[in-house]
Amino acid sequence: MKKKVKSSAPLILSIDTSCDETSAAVTSGRVVLANVVASQAEIHRPYGGVFPDLAKRAHQDNIKPVIQTTLKRAGLEWDQIGAIAVTVGPGLAPALEIGINYVQKLAKNYQKPVIPVNHIEAHLLSVLASRNKKKFKNNKPPTWQLDQFNQQYSFPVLGLVVSGGHTEFVQINQIGQYQILGQTIDDAAGEALDKVGRMVNLGYPAGPVIEKLAKQGNSDRFDFPLPMTTKKNYNLSYSGLKTAALRKVRKLEAENKLDQQTIKDFAASFQQIVFKHLNYKLEKLLIAYQKKQKLEFFQELWLGGGVAANINLRSSLRKTLRAFKIDLKTPFEKRLCGDNAAMIGVVASFKYQQKLFAATKKINRRPNWSVESAWSDETTW
Ligand code: KG4
Ligand code: ZN
Repeated sequence: MKKKVKSSAPLILSIDTSCDETSAAVTSGRVVLANVVASQAEIHRPYGGVFPDLAKRAHQDNIKPVIQTTLKRAGLEWDQIGAIAVTVGPGLAPALEIGINYVQKLAKNYQKPVIPVNHIEAHLLSVLASRNKKKFKNNKPPTWQLDQFNQQYSFPVLGLVVSGGHTEFVQINQIGQYQILGQTIDDAAGEALDKVGRMVNLGYPAGPVIEKLAKQGNSDRFDFPLPMTTKKNYNLSYSGLKTAALRKVRKLEAENKLDQQTIKDFAASFQQIVFKHLNYKLEKLLIAYQKKQKLEFFQELWLGGGVAANINLRSSLRKTLRAFKIDLKTPFEKRLCGDNAAMIGVVASFKYQQKLFAATKKINRRPNWSVESAWSDETTW
């Protein structure tokens, strides 16, 4: 049994069922006491993507045992839990519903307030999650008090979420205030990796497989056009690259040239263009914002989302950011990049302090909830 962290922060049980992972966590402020993730990758693999009805059923089966395991790992009983947090959106509607319905029941049974959380905000703040250390610096866990954090931290921070469902540049003015600066107009970066990986039978999710294969591949063998270079905004687009990839695969197949080394070279080349596109837009954005000088310039970029686990993405971003003296912040472990409930807990502990609770009966899923209104829609709950 883990020792509880010494802090006056409330203990929050969080749940995320937004896509294909059923996850529950207990956090105390920013400290993660337990974080359990039940992946459904095996279930969806034969379909090469998430199959909503199967996701729903798997969440239904997993949610109770996942929560029980989480509480056990944290060594906590229900009476010690101060609030329950749940992902309300964005995500797959039938999957979100399972988490919300279950939380409504728990909240009623155990008389706990419910904190609705935006999944993109959680990816953005995942870098703030902290390991549960035996001894914190000065015996103090990292600042979790909202006012103190907002005053002390050097905002604005640039946020970047790169996941299977989203690719967004977000200006974080302070915790709770977000402005989208650019986003994909079609497929997300992770989705493009998954779909293109599927073309060469890499299974689901293909992103991590592509990262592995790319290590042994020649990233310059296949040329892909850099998208959206004439557009003067910071939006991204991956569907053209996907089509270009499909054309190449078909040609290689027709010529009977799709051997193991070719697949590795193809994976390396495609991964490279996916990240080059992100870096190109990031650089454009930073140059423009540096020139504006209207606001204090960014000192940090907070990176979250499943694709943020990729070492090539991280090193390419670091290289771009170096010229602007901006630090890249990533979650303390890779598990926090992909979907998990600990990141939901981090957001919830900030929201708890503003009493941003939902009337339990009224919580509704919000499959397209924008991060810009992550804190401002609460009056309608
Ligand atoms: O954040 P996430 O778990 O779910 C969403 O909210 O979408 O992201 C899942 C995505 C998938 O597309 C998966 O292929 C990708 O993250 N991914 C990776 C890596 N690990 C996961 N992509 C590239 N390299 C990785 N190491
Ligand atoms: Zn996610």
